[in-house]
Amino acid sequence: MRETMTTTGPGAEDESSLTTFNQVLSLRLSRRRALLGGVGTFLLAACGEKDSGVSSPPTPTPDAGGMPVPDAAPDASADTVPQPAALGFSPVSKSLADALVLPAGYTATVLYRLGDPIAEGVPAFKNDGTDSAESHALRAGDHHDGMHYFGIAANDKIDWSVTERALLVLNHEALTPSYLHAAGQSIYGTGVEAVRTIADEVVKEMNVQGVSVLEIAKTSGQWAYKQNSSLNRRITTSTPIALSGPAARTAQMITKYAPDGSETRGTVNNCANGYTPWGTYLTCEENWAGYFRRTEPDTARSAKELASFKRYAVAGTGRELWATATPDTPEDLFGRWNADKRGASEDGSDDYRNVANTFGWVVEIDPFDPSSKPKKRTALGRLAHEGCWLGPITPGKPLVFYMGCDGRNEYIYKFVSAKNWSVADASGGLGTGDQYLDQGTLYVAKFEPDGTGRWIELRFGVGNVTTDYAAYPFTDHADVLVNTRFAADAAGGTKMDRPEWGAVHPNNGEIYFTLTNTNAASRAITAVDAANPRFYNDPKGAAATAQKGNPNGHIIRLGEDGGDHAGAAFRWDVFLFGARSTADATNVNVSALTDNNDFSSPDGCWFSHATPGLLWLETDDGAYTDATNCMLLGAIPGTVGDGGKRSIANSDTVTVPVDGGTVETDAGPMPVDAGTTTVTTAKSVDTYVGKTLGDGALRRFLVGPKECEITGVAESPDGKALFINIQHPGEETVPVFDTPSSFGSHWPDGGNARPRSATIVITKDDGGVIGT
Ligand code: FEO
Ligand code: CA
Ligand code: CA
Repeated sequence: MRETMTTTGPGAEDESSLTTFNQVLSLRLSRRRALLGGVGTFLLAACGEKDSGVSSPPTPTPDAGGMPVPDAAPDASADTVPQPAALGFSPVSKSLADALVLPAGYTATVLYRLGDPIAEGVPAFKNDGTDSAESHALRAGDHHDGMHYFGIAANDKIDWSVTERALLVLNHEALTPSYLHAAGQSIYGTGVEAVRTIADEVVKEMNVQGVSVLEIAKTSGQWAYKQNSSLNRRITTSTPIALSGPAARTAQMITKYAPDGSETRGTVNNCANGYTPWGTYLTCEENWAGYFRRTEPDTARSAKELASFKRYAVAGTGRELWATATPDTPEDLFGRWNADKRGASEDGSDDYRNVANTFGWVVEIDPFDPSSKPKKRTALGRLAHEGCWLGPITPGKPLVFYMGCDGRNEYIYKFVSAKNWSVADASGGLGTGDQYLDQGTLYVAKFEPDGTGRWIELRFGVGNVTTDYAAYPFTDHADVLVNTRFAADAAGGTKMDRPEWGAVHPNNGEIYFTLTNTNAASRAITAVDAANPRFYNDPKGAAATAQKGNPNGHIIRLGEDGGDHAGAAFRWDVFLFGARSTADATNVNVSALTDNNDFSSPDGCWFSHATPGLLWLETDDGAYTDATNCMLLGAIPGTVGDGGKRSIANSDTVTVPVDGGTVETDAGPMPVDAGTTTVTTAKSVDTYVGKTLGDGALRRFLVGPKECEITGVAESPDGKALFINIQHPGEETVPVFDTPSSFGSHWPDGGNARPRSATIVITKDDGGVIGT
């Protein structure tokens, strides 16, 4: 999301001090006020215009930003801002084709594919696994994910209103190893003995992850990236990155690379993202734990270290076996992925026993300064960070960032800056980040069964977050930040069905979180609660393979009480439940999805700012892939409480063996045969469900090629270009390299080509605003 509504309190800066960013905010607020006043026209594309529409700074409002005043429990608070009347495209059908499917009148152009060169002199990508490892540090990485559009002014600085020239900054979450090398990864041995045999392959894999900063422009009606832009940059798993905030320079951050704990190398598994009002990009480290090797005996480590490793799943060989490549380089390029205690030092300054503590953070990057060293912001906690989404901005109030930890039974968080926002700080790059992202308060969300919720502070010495917490006795606040998951456990946050992306509604500030799915092993039927209320079976495919738990996920939304985003209380409801349209309409397809909008496993989500009120939803699905590839949907949500209370009746029947023996009957003991019997467990739960959207307010907009995830979403400020990532097409099929037709996908190049993750740009053939 970009910025949302803004108000100006007493002492607010005068118009002359407004930056371009705030001028854009002002324009949007002016438009919003016109709407609230019932005058003027809903100018869907207005914020894409240059600043000619800015006439005055925003004026104070008495209601803390126009938020509907909440009641104690959810109720149908009226919309205060008109939504788009309807989605302006025809829904596309579900598809299993190896192709992009879009509504009539729209065109998708492939913009930036795995391997595409981003510097002068780097040759075109051969896409046969033979491109050099080093060259990949100057090419598009793999597994494109979270993404943001930063307009570029003529002086190469940020201008939030520029519609046809931008830095597109995007994450490269992971890799599909099969296609990076000529014939897949070279591995010798199995299990804990398995080792990588070609160091060059490992270097290539380390180079295809991280972040791209890419200059793009629309020229003669066509979007393209500029290969020789001096602003282009790749940040990889090897880029030096500073540690900042309370956990920096502490004992837990000491490594051989930085014995003072001040920095680390690289960022990895960058999933979703965020941005700041001073024009920097936030990239979020999600499944970083899996990259580290830790095969030492547990006796080598302290009880607290072991507890932390277990809570964050730092164990085993490391997913790509990077630590095993030999010989190592003088810079420990491979050994730095080994989290075992191997040195003799007391503090870890001679090995990488603490290296895993330097990952799991929100990382700030200044895309407009290619020489700047990114910073990991430890004040925002160490999680499987999905993303980091800026709440509404109000001068004189703290900045608020919403975050999710993507794991089963993990939590939703928010960070409230200690410093109050001043529009004078709407520039300054990472130095401004030091002011807003290094000091503040972290909270975890607790969802109450009555539709209210609380944000619980996570601070050393508060509540159970103390030296006496049995599962993890905290040492100090830095320890709380390094072990945020334990702090959330101690505080009693609500365990959610895998929090993925968040999105903040530009008109009312409500926060949406996708909860992508969970399974029966992680949430038994007896463990459903009001905020995670469904347990069901979703039989898949012709074999009707059981998928039990909440395989289709849901989307929860929160409205901060009184519109106070720094406050401690909120209201919530479930905006949407994923389901097959054919599923039980009472307890599974609760949102009454139809053939035009049914989906599973919501992941990416983002509110358009060109068309306030238009929500884009993306899926990363494995449950409904018997019927369709992953997709992008458009939605026009209402508000928290616009539906009502609903009881969900969950039921699970399992077949269990019976030993035989006797049972008591009215006629006395009777023998029974050994065999099986069925046992049914039922649990009903009351929850709050948003209003049914119907086909008019929820429609499938795009379906991707085979075996892909749809993720990452950004738009030009005029809403005429929508950027989307197609991640890992063909990932699930094991390729037969001498039979290219065997590849799971050939998108985007077609023929028998190897598949490539790629960014696409979607435009409307009539030049109009996407989705309207
Ligand atoms: Fe990288 Fe939670 O998706
Ligand atoms: Ca995701
Ligand atoms: Ca995902």
